[in-house]
Amino acid sequence: MENKTVYLNGQYLPLSEAKISVMDRGFLFGDGIYEVIPAYHGQLFRFQEHMERLENSLSNIRLPNPHSREQWLKILTELLSPSGDQYIYLQVTRGVAPKRDHAFPEKAEPTVFAMCSNIVPFEGRETGVKAISLDDSRWELCHVKATTLLANILLRQQAVEQGCAEAVLVNKDGYVTEGAASNIFAVIDGILITPPKSCEILPGITRDVILEIAQQNNIPFREEIIALEALKNASEIWLTSSTREIIPVVEFDSHKVADGRPGPVWQNMNRLFQAYKQSLS
Ligand code: PDD
Repeated sequence: MENKTVYLNGQYLPLSEAKISVMDRGFLFGDGIYEVIPAYHGQLFRFQEHMERLENSLSNIRLPNPHSREQWLKILTELLSPSGDQYIYLQVTRGVAPKRDHAFPEKAEPTVFAMCSNIVPFEGRETGVKAISLDDSRWELCHVKATTLLANILLRQQAVEQGCAEAVLVNKDGYVTEGAASNIFAVIDGILITPPKSCEILPGITRDVILEIAQQNNIPFREEIIALEALKNASEIWLTSSTREIIPVVEFDSHKVADGRPGPVWQNMNRLFQAYKQSLS
């Protein structure tokens, strides 16, 4: 295990020394929320937007934010290296309670943990990946970035065991929601489409950046629900996240997407996205 410096409850310490109690509600119940924030050349990317989502996740689980945005910025910036692509993982749990009881403890100090890792460019970014559709078996608060990810990991694992990089989740009405750990975009009849924000999806920060870039560059787009059948006939499918960026799907449910290669709209968007990242340094 890499012994980097991490942040835990007010202290910076080696990862091997960062310990929490087995009575922590994050451990016992998955009672916590998290964020993943990329950082390019020592600068946190879309920090305010990530903070807004963090505040929203905390208020949805009725946990007061332990820090102001200024405090968060200071805590997290300490962990960054001045160069390269990195990401911060941060987690806030409801803390240690005297006994295991599902209901909230009367008094508990939240546990705050943060660490920084290098972003290793995702292998399939240039060539494209395979994906499969699976029933969305998650709960009704998917807009909350909760640490309780059992459904997501079981779905991703099922995809991996079938040689795929991601599971594309489909709700009970036959509409695509998102990936197990990513948002989804499709190009249908020349228009870039992504499902609208709702409690069925995590409001991805990468998703918003892509829509902004589309708007600025006159790439036609719509936020609209996508039926699984329509996705099967899309000329392009992409998956997006902070750590993987924009990944083209070239095979979906064992069928090639168009000619089985990353499409022209992806080529253009990926170029614009990389140029935007570069422009920040
Ligand atoms: N996950 N949807 C889900 C379910 C996700 O877990 C993620 C990201 C996204 C994309 O959000 P963003 O663009 O803000 O990263 C959408 C992170 C990377 C993770 O769990 O590690």
